[in-house]
Amino acid sequence: MKVSCIVFAAITGLASLAQAEDAYIASGKRTAEANCAQCHNIAPGGAFKLYPPSFQAIATYMDPEIMRLKIMYPDHVSIMPQFHTFIFEGTLDNIVGYIQSLDQ
Ligand code: HEC
Repeated sequence: MKVSCIVFAAITGLASLAQAEDAYIASGKRTAEANCAQCHNIAPGGAFKLYPPSFQAIATYMDPEIMRLKIMYPDHVSIMPQFHTFIFEGTLDNIVGYIQSLDQ
């Protein structure tokens, strides 16, 4: 009895972890729709060799730490906004989480 309770708790714990993960990615997607979609194709299955690159392509070739830097501090010659002036770390985590979720 005790053992089955523990097993049950472990399974429901995992389920809520998965839900939290989904909510995190959904929030990153909303932020991307509001801030990135006017330039990037942010949808799953976006084509490769686009300019600017689709999020699908970025997900496959870029390390998440580099993504963070490129989002917060784009090249000064880039038309991409300097997101470090208005995007917070937590929001950045969600966006990077959304981009990474496309790589599967
Ligand atoms: C005004 C247009 C514009 C917006 C808005 C924009 N980007 Fe970009 N982004 C670009 C362009 C153009 C590039 C190509 C490289 C460059 O110019 O720096 C780029 C490059 C990138 C790169 C690097 C890709 C590489 O291969 O080096 C990442 C990552 C990225 N953008 C993520 C984002 C995210 C996330 C958002 C929203 C929070 C966003 N961008 C919003 C135009 C934009």
